[in-house]
Amino acid sequence: MSVLEKISSKDAIALEEKYGAQNYHPLPVVLSRGEGVYVWDVEGKKYYDFLSAYSAVNQGHCHPHIISALKEQAEKLTLTSRAFYNDMLGKYEKYVTEYFGFDRVLPMNTGAEAVETAMKLARKWGYEKKGIHVNQAKIIVCQNNFHGRTITIISASNDPIATENFGPFTPGIFSIRYNDINALSEALEDKNVAAFMVEPIQGEAGVYVPEDDYLKEAYNLCKRKNVLFIADEVQTGVARTGRLLASCGNCSCTDKLCSGTPDVKPDILILGKALSGGVFPVSAVLANNDIMDVIRPGNHGSTFGGNPLACAVAIAALEVVKNENLAENAYHLGKLFRSEMRKLIEKSNLVRLVRGKGLLNAIVINDDEDSSTAWDICVALKENGLLAKPTHGNIIRFAPPLVVTEDQLLDCVSIIFKTILEFEKKMA
Ligand SMILES: Cc1ncc(COP(=O)(O)O)c(C=O)c1O
Repeated sequence: MSVLEKISSKDAIALEEKYGAQNYHPLPVVLSRGEGVYVWDVEGKKYYDFLSAYSAVNQGHCHPHIISALKEQAEKLTLTSRAFYNDMLGKYEKYVTEYFGFDRVLPMNTGAEAVETAMKLARKWGYEKKGIHVNQAKIIVCQNNFHGRTITIISASNDPIATENFGPFTPGIFSIRYNDINALSEALEDKNVAAFMVEPIQGEAGVYVPEDDYLKEAYNLCKRKNVLFIADEVQTGVARTGRLLASCGNCSCTDKLCSGTPDVKPDILILGKALSGGVFPVSAVLANNDIMDVIRPGNHGSTFGGNPLACAVAIAALEVVKNENLAENAYHLGKLFRSEMRKLIEKSNLVRLVRGKGLLNAIVINDDEDSSTAWDICVALKENGLLAKPTHGNIIRFAPPLVVTEDQLLDCVSIIFKTILEFEKKMA
């Protein structure tokens, strides 16, 4: 079969089922094109994308500015490795550090690699700057986190599906309750703690938004105890939650790249996904000199990290966020979306609550965690032209590209209303 040959949805699914490792359970839709908030399946049916590749496509599918940067750079130079300098990396490093307000960046590719990098950086800082005894460094994480899939990262996970039969695990990682400042305070009494790593909103767990002051208080506690505050903003960062970074906290700005004083200035910031607008795997670890200077040649790296193609794409992707006021759009449309979902909750017993920030939202379905209702609703939403996916059991995440307009969002709201009300009628 030639790769140019057209393929039906049925055949495409059959190929993945036969030849691919079965590590995902996708919704039965086969996509072949995307533009802005829309994607099309191989039979030509158009859908709203309400997942955005887990918040990687914040800038919308195939954004022309990003694609043009990709094409232009692809014709010049794609990869040098870090054995040599290239003429894009320095430009990108200056751009991304000024954009997010840090001294230095360590470029990687995927979110998980960036998380691993941050954990290594924190340990090394713990030994060399904080004076923790050799091999005693601890990293505190939160229960129900999702930081990625490597052995070290799943060592921080309490999800049995992610961890079962993958041991032995990496030591030195301890879990406390999310959104529990007393638990953190207790954990930080241990002098061997090098870092606290947290998602400002727990996306994969089901879009859990902590109490208003949680991050600020956690950050202040870390400062007092000389513990690094690591914000994993792989999913929440780059305008998704209505500001450039979710860890900015509760400053009243609707962003404009938040030049005000943020509540929280992470010691280590982890970004991925939308850093490239979903065009190319680009991730980053940002920190100031006093932390990043523990990394010397040979300590860490990646053949592809900082490649010129990634640099060109990431600069373009970040320009789009700024030029198109995506944080502001996410802030306003997110408010509208949640208020519409509250109206749905009044009309339907099937939806229990809505939560989220900006355009990272979820509804909780009124059924058992292990029921198939949320999945079945997502299949019905697909039939009606909107793609979304359950996170855990009975929770459906709604995260459209941030370029969505108010009219498009309201169109999606009516698809969600219609689907859920019809579904409820059928169940009765
Ligand atoms: C908060 C967070 N951290 C890390 C990751 C891992 O990113 P990747 O899938 O690119 O390795 C994810 C992915 O969903 C994430 O949501």
